Amino acid sequence: MSETIRLTPRLRAAADWVPQNAVLCDVGTDHAHLPAALVLEGRISRAIASDIRPGPLERARRTVQAFGLEGQIETRLCPGLENIAPGEADTVTICGMGGEMIMGILAAAPWTREGVRLILQPQRSQPELRRWLREHGYRIVSERVVAEGPRWYTLLLAEGGADSLPVEEIQDLAGHPAVWVREGSRPEYLKALREKQQRLLAALGKSAQAEEQRIRNMEREILLLGQWEDRLRRGEWPEWQR
Ligand SMILES: C[S@@+](CC[C@H](N)C(=O)[O-])C[C@H]1O[C@@H](n2cnc3c(N)ncnc32)[C@H](O)[C@@H]1O
Repeated sequence: MSETIRLTPRLRAAADWVPQNAVLCDVGTDHAHLPAALVLEGRISRAIASDIRPGPLERARRTVQAFGLEGQIETRLCPGLENIAPGEADTVTICGMGGEMIMGILAAAPWTREGVRLILQPQRSQPELRRWLREHGYRIVSERVVAEGPRWYTLLLAEGGADSLPVEEIQDLAGHPAVWVREGSRPEYLKALREKQQRLLAALGKSAQAEEQRIRNMEREILLLGQWEDRLRRGEWPEWQR
């Protein structure tokens, strides 16, 4: 057995946001690769790996045992953060779940607004999650995009607090440009998002019930995505980056 765990690019990106010596809770841990890799790398020395289902938690236990990490990683069977007391973790990762599920988990644990670093990787409903965070006392500090084969993943770094960013039309769809991490893949991601919106718009255009306002909004989003893509390709990142 090797002494490291090679994380996928998506989980690597989440791991990179975990601060040195953080006390981590990885919600929906499944195989516990994320906390185990971080302990093996010496980044953290304590973590809770939790999951709602016994099968995935058993997989987590097997990883912990295989690497002899019983003293550092505690596995816990529970939905969301239900059995995690406030103060038990200063960093929470929730990766590989739908945006609605992430909202539900945070709504049931309001202590996550008090000085906790949240690393969120929603599989879908990213616009809804961004809006929900803003309306429920969280602010997005940073956003990354990661490609794994043909699939794009979005990662949000969030914390409790009010957001004072100027409102941009595309902020719920693509995130606010001010929080985009300067990374080479962003223009490619914006292109993929723009093309997806164009396909949706084409399908909507064929529907007799298509609302005029919705069509106008989508056209504007597509225009803004294209403008940002061109600017970033020219190296013009937003000046007001956090
Ligand atoms: C697709 S896996 C993701 C595993 C890992 N976090 C990753 O990103 O590779 C989703 C995991 O979340 C767990 N899960 C789903 N809903 C949950 C909830 N409400 N609370 C805790 N775990 C949950 C599932 O049992 C499953 O193990």
